[in-house]
Amino acid sequence: MGIHSINPLIQWRKLLIFSLLLGLAACKNDQDVEVLKLAHNLDQTTSVHQAMVLMAKRLYELSGGTMRIDIYPSGQLGQEREYIELLQIGSLAMTKVSASPMEGFVQEMRIFSIPYVFRDEDHLWRFLESEKGKAMLAKGEDKRLRGVGYYDAGSRSFYSQCGTNRPIRRPGDLAGLKVRVQESQTSVRMVQALGGSATPISWGELYTALQQGVVDAAENNPPSFFLSKHFEVCKLYTIDEHTAVPDVILISSYIWNNLSAQQQAWLQQAVDESVKYQRILWAEATREALEAVKAAGVEVVYPDKAEFQAEVESMHESYRGEPIYDLLQHIKAMQ
Ligand code: GCU
Repeated sequence: MGIHSINPLIQWRKLLIFSLLLGLAACKNDQDVEVLKLAHNLDQTTSVHQAMVLMAKRLYELSGGTMRIDIYPSGQLGQEREYIELLQIGSLAMTKVSASPMEGFVQEMRIFSIPYVFRDEDHLWRFLESEKGKAMLAKGEDKRLRGVGYYDAGSRSFYSQCGTNRPIRRPGDLAGLKVRVQESQTSVRMVQALGGSATPISWGELYTALQQGVVDAAENNPPSFFLSKHFEVCKLYTIDEHTAVPDVILISSYIWNNLSAQQQAWLQQAVDESVKYQRILWAEATREALEAVKAAGVEVVYPDKAEFQAEVESMHESYRGEPIYDLLQHIKAMQ
């Protein structure tokens, strides 16, 4: 698997951003304020961004103005994999990425990109809030990535008829279709199991890729489908809900370990409050997004999920013998 080749302009931009960030991920300014830089790839209208604004506000208040979070949204400093790598070297303090690309750093996070593991939102959240779910956040420590919380990212479904008249209504329709996935080997396997040809492309490049027919289809949750404006190009949204991939809030271990215990507690509290707020916003954002795409002429269909599930069932068994298989069984057995 490889991501799309990066053009020289993007490489230059990366260099520039890298030099800008170097040494500035967490800095004390003149008034001795600890400033944490947080970059993410979603738009400012998303629930994630709004919840981050609350996080920043609460940290400022809790710390009596001695800590600040500066947010860089919309992928202006790069894409998710780059953010993770910048955290690893301590050049960026915080980010929020999908758990899918995180699997390249924390193997267990593959669990979220395996289709039909969670029965519904409630099942997912009971797992995320369980001891095992919380422990997973700490698993990146040896890679200098500390997870501090999960944001809701609902469940992902296919969208198609993006210029090319290739609808996905049933699993068989994926045959021969080029489907964009995140940079995640497990997502590649899922699309392949459905007969499609998986193409990893970064989120920021996807609108153009859909428009130009580089890929025929993609998949995401309703707010992302709507707020990315991909609905302008893709006219069929098939709610098969194959995966429930949460977003993960990360801080560079370098930065975290340099904070005092008190500063860590303030930050964790601000994150926890932000997480609660985002979950409230999420439910509403999902409803609104579905209404809005329908109003814009997108056909939203609810296929027989069991048909999709049957096609990818063998994927679960393919993990037998690996540690993740036990986790899979544990989750499926949760009441
Ligand atoms: C979701 C997720 C993003 C991710 C995107 C993607 O929108 O919240 O973090 O980048 O999916 O499919 O790339």
